[in-house]
Amino acid sequence: MVLQGRKITVGITGGITAYKAAEIVSWLKASGAELQIAMTASACQLITPLTMKVLSGHPVATDIMDTSANWHAPHIDLADCELYLLLPATANIMAKAAHGIADEVVSASLLANHAPVFCAPAMNTYMYENPATQHNMAILQERGWQMIEPDSSGLSGSPIRKGQLADIDTIKQAIVGFFANASKLAGKKVIVSAGPTYEFIDSVSFIGTRGSGKMGYALAEAAAREGAEVVLVAGPVSLNDPPGITVKHVVSASEMQDAILDEYDDADIVIMSAAVADYRPAKVADHKLKKGPENQCLEVVLTPDILAGLGKQKGSRFLAGFAAETDNLEQYAQGKLKEKNLDLVLANNVLEDGAGFDVDTNIITAIYGDKIERFPKMSKKKAAKEIIDLIVKLLG
Ligand code: CTP
Repeated sequence: MVLQGRKITVGITGGITAYKAAEIVSWLKASGAELQIAMTASACQLITPLTMKVLSGHPVATDIMDTSANWHAPHIDLADCELYLLLPATANIMAKAAHGIADEVVSASLLANHAPVFCAPAMNTYMYENPATQHNMAILQERGWQMIEPDSSGLSGSPIRKGQLADIDTIKQAIVGFFANASKLAGKKVIVSAGPTYEFIDSVSFIGTRGSGKMGYALAEAAAREGAEVVLVAGPVSLNDPPGITVKHVVSASEMQDAILDEYDDADIVIMSAAVADYRPAKVADHKLKKGPENQCLEVVLTPDILAGLGKQKGSRFLAGFAAETDNLEQYAQGKLKEKNLDLVLANNVLEDGAGFDVDTNIITAIYGDKIERFPKMSKKKAAKEIIDLIVKLLG
């Protein structure tokens, strides 16, 4: 049941165990999954696309330029899935994926893919142990790929070495486990705020905050992957709307507050990751202000503290906020936890290398109750998953 209707893309590459993909694909099909298959040219020499087509009940993409009736653009169609299973994964496909090479249909669909990737490496043991392969795997894991560890083999008396495709049952369990866990937030409504806010001075200028929205978007996607209904309230960012998520675009702090309050009644979890501007001009000029001594001083007033307002009418909701600090990180973050009536504060020192604005990584300290949990530097996508897992844990 757990796989019924789940959209899974299987990328098959040219490992000698490509034939084992047939068993997995027919089991996925029998379990009710909706499958799309991509095969590299080498994989096609080891097992025919026809076999995979018959087993999956779906045409198989072997050519990035195939725009026959079945495909609009194969690499993009293939990326529309809930899980991308790469099986077997050669050293070559992992090297290409790690470095963004998209020269055939499997690597191109991996580049377009934004679903979680389960990767089952299989290759000669020396190729597997080669530092290049290990380095590429580490890059992919850092980006959130899940490796289904290869098995070890060794003749008696010789050292045990890794490289053989994981046992079929292990692969099946990983897939079932993913979808069983993928529903940890099923039935929950999650509001995530992201990005900066702009507070206009006149029709041309504004004061605002720095914030790319990457952390908030990653959080929204991570919550959606756990089966939550997600509403993402985004300030001005240059990111694409994630598929399957309701996105409300706002500009100012008060618009952000209105959009959140509109959704708040039946919300279960709110994560305020937006960098909300603390001040707005007291008056917004309806014409462009001319430069000159008369306009040198700008009178500002405080914007609403959205999160503190939500904390006052918290009910049974779970509220998480961020604390962007440059000093006294934990002390200030603990203050925000109490003052805003929160369940969780995610603090980061925005001056620290790898934790500031516009970068793809973050260094988070999670503060809840009287606990402090420090996470190492990691990609924002990985940090988002850790945060959602922590929220699930704290919700019990
Ligand atoms: N926040 C908010 N409304 C504001 C300002 C902040 O909802 N007007 C939220 C942020 O989204 C974040 C948390 O409150 O989740 C803490 O924001 P931060 O900028 O770190 O702190 P401030 O509350 O603004 O306090 P200070 O600037 O003094 O550190």
